[in-house]
Amino acid sequence: MDQLSVDGASSMTEKKKKNYENLCPAVAMYGPCNVEDLEPGKTMKWCTCGLSKKQPWCDGAHKKTGFKSLKWKVPDHPQRIYSICNCKHTKNPPLCDATHVNLPAVVETRQKNCDSAHDEDMKLCTGCGWVPKW
Ligand code: FES
Repeated sequence: MDQLSVDGASSMTEKKKKNYENLCPAVAMYGPCNVEDLEPGKTMKWCTCGLSKKQPWCDGAHKKTGFKSLKWKVPDHPQRIYSICNCKHTKNPPLCDATHVNLPAVVETRQKNCDSAHDEDMKLCTGCGWVPKW
């Protein structure tokens, strides 16, 4: 995990880190994106909010959601394809760990039980990952 860092993490207080961990992202897709030919050593910014139109990478869509991109340095060893998480719930970001397999039912339940008022002007409900029409 030493290759990973959340933007600005070093300046975050423990309280802010805890708040960030409690945010629920949107599910961009219930499955990974297989990415080919990444340049070893290059730093990529993985989308954590699920709103980017350039999945699996960040396009800045997280602004005002509380999320920030996650920097990931492509390992130096050669590997042709990486399976990058697009559901945004992996425990091993940015790599897919198959969390997406059981996620649809979890997300449906979470959104049904969400206390927040959802309206079309919202960008993202960080309590449950609800977004207005994509
Ligand atoms: S796509 Fe997120 S864990 Fe597989």
